[in-house]
Amino acid sequence: LLNMLAALIFGYLLGSIPFGLIFTRMAGLGDVRKIGSGNIGATNVLRTGRKGLAAATLIGDALKGTVAVLVAAQWGPQFAVVAALGAFLGHLFPVWLKFKGGKGVATFIGVLLGLKPLAALIFCLIWLAVAFVSKYSSLSALIASAATPVVLWLLGQPGMAGVSVILVALLWWKHSQNISRLLAGTEGKIGQKG
Ligand code: G3P
Repeated sequence: LLNMLAALIFGYLLGSIPFGLIFTRMAGLGDVRKIGSGNIGATNVLRTGRKGLAAATLIGDALKGTVAVLVAAQWGPQFAVVAALGAFLGHLFPVWLKFKGGKGVATFIGVLLGLKPLAALIFCLIWLAVAFVSKYSSLSALIASAATPVVLWLLGQPGMAGVSVILVALLWWKHSQNISRLLAGTEGKIGQKG
């Protein structure tokens, strides 16, 4: 049990690194939380107009989840799943930002990549398909994430599917304002400044 807690905390600490905030500050753009949706994620970093920084944010926020999973997997598969949960919680509720973190899309992809790469690939394909049609980053993430527990279950991973339901519920909850804006027709499209 102590080892499980260690895996959770290890994942949390890695997950709580806010790459979007760090990269935009390093670039001298000020606080990304003051623009667009106020989020620290890649979608909002893109609203600064800096595609490279947005890509770096996406990769950083994803890979911290992948690294947490792959390191913890050395201790056993159940530790990998716990570290995934920790990394996701760290990104959503970082202690460094008074527990106000991101919405979890990139980190969700990252932990999937570590746990079940095919599920991460399917997530990205669904995301891209919805984004291509709708141009909404949030809607793409909502649909791709909702499909993930089913995908994991179909891939023969009922345990991961079960844990992923918790992550998806948190991801949807973090998107409540996006959902309201989507329903009201006021959600910003990808790359649109605001
Ligand atoms: O990755 C978060 C995305 O789904 C929505 O981001 O900044 O539009 O709230 P944002």
